[in-house]
Amino acid sequence: MIKVNSLRVDYEELTAVRDLSFEVKEGQIYGLVGPNGAGKTTTIKALAGLLEPTYGEILINNIDPETHPREAQKYIGYMPDFAPVYNNLTAWEYLDVFAAAYLIEKKERPAKIKYWIDKVKLSEKAKVYIRELSRGMKQRLVLAKTLLPNPKVLLLDEPASGLDPIARKDLRDILKEISQDGKTIIISSHILSELSDFCNAVGIMEKGKMVVSGSLQEIRSRIKSKGLMIVRLAEHNEDQSLKLFNILNNSTQISGLQKISDIEIRASFLGDAKEAAWLLAQLVKQNILIAEFNVKQDNVEDIFFKIGAHEVS
Ligand SMILES: Nc1ncnc2c1ncn2[C@@H]1O[C@H](COP(=O)(O)OP(=O)(O)OP(=O)(O)O)[C@@H](O)[C@H]1O
Ligand SMILES: [Mg+2]
Repeated sequence: MIKVNSLRVDYEELTAVRDLSFEVKEGQIYGLVGPNGAGKTTTIKALAGLLEPTYGEILINNIDPETHPREAQKYIGYMPDFAPVYNNLTAWEYLDVFAAAYLIEKKERPAKIKYWIDKVKLSEKAKVYIRELSRGMKQRLVLAKTLLPNPKVLLLDEPASGLDPIARKDLRDILKEISQDGKTIIISSHILSELSDFCNAVGIMEKGKMVVSGSLQEIRSRIKSKGLMIVRLAEHNEDQSLKLFNILNNSTQISGLQKISDIEIRASFLGDAKEAAWLLAQLVKQNILIAEFNVKQDNVEDIFFKIGAHEVS
């Protein structure tokens, strides 16, 4: 859905992004992470068609936003890191102005605005002037505005900054929900633990370059990341404990088998979800009473720190 080839963006003297190539597939929720000044905002602005690439190519749904800005805009919902808001409008009026700009038909506007204003939990503030809203409320309002035209591609630059913990959870729930109907989302954030909750792909930028990019599964296998398998028996039973140990020990995907207690075993697991399910089925077939069977894979945060520690080859 999004393709970037050898992108370079210069601000006069400074090259903010160089030789950047990556791809985001339809339906992916792609976390764009990296330290301050890495070039995330610059990349997102270029994708939104707001910054002209100095060099390179961007395709959104096979459309080049530089040569066909209007067509590309139809697909894109962009939420900037610092959104300009119109202080002398009420929350409702603000959404109404944008609904008109998005060419939503007049008779459909009230229902659509109500839907999104409820969704971001601002209905109580619908008639309040924007200047009287808190920072997090303004942020929610801008999110509602971005989602209003139902764009296929969402470009969100640090949408969670300024939100309280409840609003952040609401934001995650909204994004999870809208990602179910095939939307493609790029979201930049410094809150890695929160991205881990719902991103299925990640791009790590550093000094204007992409260090690693791809689905979490691809990256995990590229950095040979092992999952931590934890298996607990329902009760202490020598016979079952021995069977469990032997079955796990025979798997080529398992290494570093460790007996933590009479009922708990831990190991490194290299396989995928299907292989884990197959192993669990073997245990059940042997009438071993399993109370817990868990494989913890590296999440966005774990991957970020591993790559930062140059574990990628
Ligand atoms: N309008 C601008 N004019 C000149 N240089 C800029 C401008 N905007 C950004 N830069 C520079 O471009 C580089 C990349 O900035 P960018 O805002 O893309 O980083 P970022 O990854 O979004 O950082 P942050 O995590 O702080 O938001 C930085 O060195 C920054 O100083
Ligand atoms: Mg930024």
